[in-house]
Amino acid sequence: MAVKLRHPSAGVAEVDYVARMGVAVVTGASTGIGKATAVRLAREPGTELVLVARREQLLRELAGELPCRATYVAVDLTAADAPQQVRSHLEAEHAGALHLLVNNAGASWRASFAEGGYENVRRHMELNFDAVVRLTEALLPLLRASAPSAIVNVASTAGRVARARTGSYSASKFALIGWTDALYAEEKPNWVHVGMVLPGFIKTEGFPATELREKALTRWIVSKPEKVADAIYECGPGGRAERYVPRPYGLAAALRILTPSLVRRVLGGGAAANLTTSTAGDNEKSSDPG
Ligand SMILES: NC(=O)c1ccc[n+]([C@@H]2O[C@H](COP(=O)([O-])OP(=O)(O)OC[C@H]3O[C@@H](n4cnc5c(N)ncnc54)[C@H](OP(=O)(O)O)[C@@H]3O)[C@@H](O)[C@H]2O)c1
Repeated sequence: MAVKLRHPSAGVAEVDYVARMGVAVVTGASTGIGKATAVRLAREPGTELVLVARREQLLRELAGELPCRATYVAVDLTAADAPQQVRSHLEAEHAGALHLLVNNAGASWRASFAEGGYENVRRHMELNFDAVVRLTEALLPLLRASAPSAIVNVASTAGRVARARTGSYSASKFALIGWTDALYAEEKPNWVHVGMVLPGFIKTEGFPATELREKALTRWIVSKPEKVADAIYECGPGGRAERYVPRPYGLAAALRILTPSLVRRVLGGGAAANLTTSTAGDNEKSSDPG
């Protein structure tokens, strides 16, 4: 796929090159969007995958099913030594090469601020933001050394428009979006493209969207992990800066900027309750807020 990058060195204007797939790390690869991304990337010639998540058995099974070389690191990405574990694995098993980092692992635990308090904000930031930043910091030298290369951060439409009871999740994704925009500009001269994907409602293990799928009125707004995987490919090796999935969700983000009072009115009304769906995190006893 042709990608345009502008190299800062004198005399070199815009250069086209064919982005090739090489070694790709996909976090949150045991289920949902991450698993679909691994399957999508495995179709590209030359791909070697490193699958990252906590559940080793799921990673082992997926690695065995993929049509390309695939290794895995079973690790909790919030652990202090997780970034170094992934980096050491890349150095030991993939000669330290890294052409694509997909920061996808994430979760949501619904609670109002009054119920969940700072603790709910903290755990969202720990996984959805801090873990992404820490892993990227550890792997950026490998991405630069393997350039042209790419990072794709999986944010959310909730990182543009916040709803009641998902404020902590939104805060972590707003943070991720802001940081990703800056990183895009900073790493461009180093030939590390930084893309971002903003999914809407996607049926996965962690985000089953059951309430929406049960009603004919809202069923159509729920999409599939495979669509997000295609967007992740577009925003990584494909060189796009960002993609909403499905695309019309971008309209909600635009309205939030252009007509904030209208969006507040809609999300403050009864209709908003239908859009706050339960998540797998809600059922985890250990993560019951407060
Ligand atoms: N589905 C949606 O509607 C939707 C919408 C917008 C954004 N997103 C974003 O898309 C990303 C993927 O979500 P998904 O829908 O595919 O959900 P999912 O099916 O629950 O997948 C989440 C993945 O993250 C991994 N993970 C969770 N905590 C981890 C930890 N502490 N350390 C390492 N891995 C961890 C999980 O694997 P293990 O449990 O094996 O560790 C799993 O592979 C998330 O960032 C989410 O915020 C999803």
